[in-house]
Amino acid sequence: MEAESTSTNNGQKLSGKVAIVTGGASGIGEATARVFAGQGARMVVIADIQGELGNQVAASIGSQRCTFVHCDVTDEDEVQRLVQFTVNNYGQLDIMFSNAGFCSSSLQTVIDLDMSEFDRTLSINVRGMALCVKHAARAMVEKRVRGTIVCTASVAGSHGSSQKTDYSISKHGVIGLMRSASVQLAEHGIRVNSVSPNGLATPMTCKLLGTSEEKVVQEAYGQYKRLKGVVLTTKHVADAVLFLVSNDSEFVTGHDLVVDGSLIW
Ligand SMILES: NC(=O)c1ccc[n+]([C@@H]2O[C@H](COP(=O)([O-])OP(=O)(O)OC[C@H]3O[C@@H](n4cnc5c(N)ncnc54)[C@H](O)[C@@H]3O)[C@@H](O)[C@H]2O)c1
Repeated sequence: MEAESTSTNNGQKLSGKVAIVTGGASGIGEATARVFAGQGARMVVIADIQGELGNQVAASIGSQRCTFVHCDVTDEDEVQRLVQFTVNNYGQLDIMFSNAGFCSSSLQTVIDLDMSEFDRTLSINVRGMALCVKHAARAMVEKRVRGTIVCTASVAGSHGSSQKTDYSISKHGVIGLMRSASVQLAEHGIRVNSVSPNGLATPMTCKLLGTSEEKVVQEAYGQYKRLKGVVLTTKHVADAVLFLVSNDSEFVTGHDLVVDGSLIW
């Protein structure tokens, strides 16, 4: 059997690729934008509602490799403009990492659901994801790009939650979106997968737990995994996303890749 390298130029897995990372101003998105740029992506477009932070991250990666576009993923016009900006300026869209997400700090048990928080959560986590997948897929089909799309789901997308009903519903929705899109877009050679992290320290979870100390958050989520000797970081998630968007996973589509260190639910 012929040995075939899955990497391209200088061993870089994303050489020449153009990527959008939503929610790229912070946490998992930021770490993934850095990994994409480090793996030779021609341009990484960070899309987020946090302008100052997004611009800072893009500048720290370097203006030749990364740029920031202000985009609220719940607004279809803004998502459409984001994708158009990317295609107009960089020729095509190869990778969409639809990652922007939200988790309410209030407890959301089913009998006490706060419907305004419910609507906000579903609007960002489901509507926003669907819009990013829709417009990325349109651009890829139009330009005949065999692109890849990855959505950030969660371990909460495959299990019932005792307190975060709205978040769990929204992440189950992400997995449904990913599976349907993967079936429909396969005929165009477009792969669609999701990544489902266990709990980890990011600005989102620091806020949820009311602390700025990453270590406190890491310890709090440590009880939900069996795997000893390692603490889940944004880099672990970014590396899983890299696998899903690169040729290393060329025959993988419709898959939810859990990054959970053997989940204790
Ligand atoms: N941190 C965890 O424990 C964990 C676990 C599983 C899944 N996730 C998921 O990972 C993803 C990233 O979260 P994170 O933990 O890195 O949090 P984070 O808060 O650090 O990053 C989320 C980013 O999304 C952006 N965002 C929020 N609403 C937006 C909108 N309407 N339009 C554009 N951008 C918007 C925020 O500004 C922020 O920069 C989310 O989808 C989250 O649900 C997180």
